Parts: sequence; structure tokens; C-alpha cells
Amino acid sequence: MTKHKIIYDTDPGIDDAIALVFQARHPQIELVGITSVFGNADIDTTTANALYLASRFAPGVPVVRGAAAPLRHPPPAPIPHIHGKDGLGEISRTGHVSQQEDGRAAHRFIVEMVRANPGEITLLAVGPLTNLALALREDPDIARLVREVVVMGGAFGVGGELGNATPAAEANMHGDPDAADIVFGAAWKVSIVGLDVTHETVMTTAFLAALRDSAGDAGRFVWDVSRFYERFHADDGMSRGIYAHDYSAAAFVVARELYTTRSGPVRVLTDGIAAGLTVQKPASMRAPAPDWDTRPPCDACIGVDAAAVLDLFTRTLRG
Ligand code: BDR
Ligand code: CA
Repeated sequence: MTKHKIIYDTDPGIDDAIALVFQARHPQIELVGITSVFGNADIDTTTANALYLASRFAPGVPVVRGAAAPLRHPPPAPIPHIHGKDGLGEISRTGHVSQQEDGRAAHRFIVEMVRANPGEITLLAVGPLTNLALALREDPDIARLVREVVVMGGAFGVGGELGNATPAAEANMHGDPDAADIVFGAAWKVSIVGLDVTHETVMTTAFLAALRDSAGDAGRFVWDVSRFYERFHADDGMSRGIYAHDYSAAAFVVARELYTTRSGPVRVLTDGIAAGLTVQKPASMRAPAPDWDTRPPCDACIGVDAAAVLDLFTRTLRG
């Protein structure tokens, strides 16, 4: 069985934590590193959360501290109403944190791991893309040595939505639009799993309760950590459930056949009221668009078999 060697670039974050549990449990995934980034909380908090999650679910996987702020924009405002003051839904934590930070910077870790494993590493990025942009800046040649980049982020208007952080921007794109535009413009294979499909993939209260009762410690953790997130979704007008944002990108790595994608170069607006907006020029479009035409195509998800994606989560957690 070919394993996917993943560096998980993350800002944990409740849905980030849920995606990590899935990766730790999936037989075709080998987590080779967890790199933290600011986003759902500040970098001290997301790094501490990554250490906690690794200690509990992925012991021995290196945890590496990443960027504290975007490349150019000021750091985003805190969002404790979404992920809790501690970034992990304010659960009472069990077990002790056995892991310590790897001493390297996240972008350097990415460069070193990619160089040591040419053609093998998948970068699964579910926060602002600052670490990946810094890695490219340090060593642009890694683009041809990475197996694939899978990003949770963006929105292409398929379901009528363009953003969740602003009317025009998904949160991870809004977190560092310059970095996102760099990452989508590099010469590596990029797949983008955005709101067009994550808003179709809802873990309902009943789904989460069934996991709690049937998937051991992992299932109980997913239930506990999702309580805060579910209250936020309810306050936001959604009934009884959570969007499976970051898990969807992890699912894409091992089950891309469950997604429909559209190919074409993607730009990210970096300034103004629509900063963070993702715009693809579909390969089928013939009109010239110089700001897109010189760039490599990305695969953007435009459809999903959500029931199968959710079933994959249940089967994986139950083992
Ligand atoms: C994305 O934003 C973050 O809040 C989530 O963890 C996810 O990565 C969804 O827009
Ligand atoms: Ca995230």
C-alpha cells in the first residue's frame, strides 16, 4: 500500500484537530511533521495545541513552530468566539504533553523534509499559507520536489458563497492573501478544497454523537472538541452541526475520487475590500487573461460526494 507522507501545516483550531485525528488513524497516511501557523489563535496557542494533539494522537511526530504573522498584512483579529479562548473549544484536556517543539522554523523544516524525500511529501495546509510561501522563498526548487500541495481554503462561488471571514474571502485566504497568491502561482501540483465543498459536508450532531458512542477515545474527543464549534455554527444560523472544513482536505488526499475538480490558474486578491478573494480562470475559458495565463493550473474542488466523505471519517475512526 502506498502511503501518503504528509506534513500537516495547521492552526489548531477545532476542525484542524478533527482532521489530525483522522490522519493519525488512517492506514494510508504517514504523518511526518506538524507545522503550526497563526490563524485560529496566536502562534503560541496553535503551537501548544499542536503539541497537545501530537502527544495524544500522533506521538513522536515532530511539531514545528511556524509563522506568527502574515507576510505583509497585520495579524488578523483574534476569533475566540469560533474556536474558544484556547483555540480548542475550551475542553478539559486529558493526558500530559509529552512532545516538545522541534527547534527548527517551520518553513526550514518543510524545505529539509522535501529535499530529504524528493517526490514523496504531500503538504496538507489548512491555515494561512505563510509557512509554505516562506519555504518557497527560501528554496524555490522545492516546488518540483513536492508530491502535491492540498489546501483547505478559498471559495469559487459554486454554491453562491465567496467567503466566511468577509463576504469576499475565506478565513485562510484572508489570513495571508499574499502567501496564498504565491503558493497558487508556484510550479507544483496544487489542489484547493474550499467552501464550495466544505459547506456541503456537514457533521451533524447525530453524526458526532454516533462517533462519540462508537469510536473510542478518538470519537469522544471529536465530540468534546466540537461542542464549542457547534454552538458557534448555531449562533451563525446553521442548525445542529459543524462544517468539516479541514477534514475535507485530509479526505481529499486519500479519496480524491469523491470530489469533482475544475482545472485552471488561481489568483488571490491581496488588497482592498476583497482581499483574500480566490478567482480561477477555468481551462475552458478562451479569452486572454494575462494575470492568470502565465501561471500553472490548480485543481479547485467544485463538487463532492459528502455522504461518502463522512462515511470515510466514521470508518477510519472506528478502525
Ligand atoms: C478555515 O478557517 C479556519 O477557521 C478553519 O480551521 C478552517 O481551516 C475555514 O474557513
Ligand atoms: Ca484551520
